[in-house]
Amino acid sequence: MTGKYFDYNATTPIDPSVRENLTNWASEWGNPSSIHWAGRGPKLLLREARLKLATALGVSPLELVFTSGGSESNTTVLKSVFKTSSRGHFLTSQVEHPSIAKTMQALAVNGAKVDFIPVSREGVLDLDFYSEKLSTETALVSVMTANNETGHIFPVGQLAESARQVGALFHTDAVQALAKIPVSLKEWKVDYASFSAHKCYALKGVGLLYARKGALIESLILGGGQERHRRGGTENVLGIAAFGHMAEKFSLLEKESGSQVRELRDHLEKRICSEISGVLVNGPGSPRLPNTSSLIISDVDGETLLMSLDLKGYAVSTGAACSSGNPEPSPTLLAMGLTRAEAQSSLRISLGVSQTEAQVDEFVETLKAIVVRLRSLGESGVGRRGSQDFVGSRGGVSV
Ligand SMILES: Cc1ncc(COP(=O)(O)O)c(C=O)c1O
Repeated sequence: MTGKYFDYNATTPIDPSVRENLTNWASEWGNPSSIHWAGRGPKLLLREARLKLATALGVSPLELVFTSGGSESNTTVLKSVFKTSSRGHFLTSQVEHPSIAKTMQALAVNGAKVDFIPVSREGVLDLDFYSEKLSTETALVSVMTANNETGHIFPVGQLAESARQVGALFHTDAVQALAKIPVSLKEWKVDYASFSAHKCYALKGVGLLYARKGALIESLILGGGQERHRRGGTENVLGIAAFGHMAEKFSLLEKESGSQVRELRDHLEKRICSEISGVLVNGPGSPRLPNTSSLIISDVDGETLLMSLDLKGYAVSTGAACSSGNPEPSPTLLAMGLTRAEAQSSLRISLGVSQTEAQVDEFVETLKAIVVRLRSLGESGVGRRGSQDFVGSRGGVSV
């Protein structure tokens, strides 16, 4: 079925080598915190995974904290800095994942001053706004490495450098970047970074938080003092072992992303734009993840398109109405200056390492036929959902 899966930014299939090893890892069922014999095997799995991830990221194993996912890593950093910093100002972008955006909003309700950096129609961060707002009052800057919807990449090293000059901490949500583009934590000199295993062909429910040596982490979850008191709760040994296993393949995956996957994505966009009228790529000239294509397909409702593709066995994402149970178009696309109608006509296609040109070509043929049919029916629904009385949204989550 993965031949018809075009939603790798939502999650990736599990790597066959992970599947093969699962029973092995599961045989270490003891509690890694136990001092007796049953704890030794799982403790070793954790240690090995931490080391492999640290090696892949070029950091010390002591700088890594296992969490339940990217959302928890993000929330931990924001809440921890809010609680422990003597400064009250936070800076983030207008296009962050909801785990950042909503936590920032919650901090604002609790007294933080939060500024959201705008982006241009091309998906480029407003650096003048950033410089104006950054001050010695800024506790933390949090800007993602790459956007989950458009794939746009932000200049993390440069942003972190400016933050450092005013003594502010810097966090990046690198969930979508890992194993797709180089992630250079030490070169960028960030204080914190978040990762998620299920975007890297490993299992769901495991995340990683990088906290530079000396960068404080106040645990979000209080418990038995696991992860050097930085994250309470018995570790997800199986998922962590799988993540560590995949860490040994990050550089290969990254290489494939930068070559085969990029070529496929470019081929896909070229075909779609030349063979389907009224299609625009969102910010094609800005730095982008090699696997992601965010499109506006005019006069077609994104959700209707998604469902029609689903009926043909294809999995994609819409750029609209993808916040759970929420008829609003994607805040990311609106922040880029798209109209509601444009955002509702958006489609996100995200590719992965095992796909072939034949699969992409088949997908394009199906998409073409569906777009022609929907346009001929004249039932796009675009625009109607922008009205006040729209009630018919289907659920979904922004991933
Ligand atoms: C940019 C970004 N940050 C954070 C997350 C959340 O990661 P997780 O699903 O592991 O909580 C996602 C995934 O949806 C994401 O795309």
